[in-house]
Amino acid sequence: MLRRLMMTVLLMGWIVSAEGAVKTLGRSESLRFDPSGYPPEMKSAYAIMQAKCTRCHSLERTVVAVTTGVAPISGRPFDHVAVVAYGQKMLRMPNARMSRDEVKSVVNLLVYLVDSTQSGEK
Ligand code: HEC
Repeated sequence: MLRRLMMTVLLMGWIVSAEGAVKTLGRSESLRFDPSGYPPEMKSAYAIMQAKCTRCHSLERTVVAVTTGVAPISGRPFDHVAVVAYGQKMLRMPNARMSRDEVKSVVNLLVYLVDSTQSGEK
């Protein structure tokens, strides 16, 4: 079941590819993404991320991971594989309070953002 979720997530990530660097707003604790140019489905995923992924830490951590390509705590590369792995980790956290669908949306958004960052650097 989890494997099927992973495959779906990966496939959707490949289909939804983007252009241009990722825009951000604010700095340090208030650092966040600027979703104004996102396609509609990514905008709604962003709303989920903003609501659910800021309970334990600010979005700064996520912005740093996406824009630098390095996860700030572990120092590991923040690529598609890392995004999917983090999504699975979130599903297993007892107090993450996120549904499978919410995690899936956020993972799709992160894959989209990772792709946007990479194509922006080319
Ligand atoms: C239940 C609390 C909690 C929630 C909710 C939460 N996080 Fe985290 N997050 C953590 C903790 C604790 C760490 C640091 C250690 C770790 O990775 O487990 C972390 C670390 C991170 C990192 C850095 C990982 C690394 O390896 O450097 C990123 C990126 C991140 N979170 C993104 C997110 C995103 C995106 C969401 C929403 C899907 C989210 N977090 C929701 C607790 C949370």
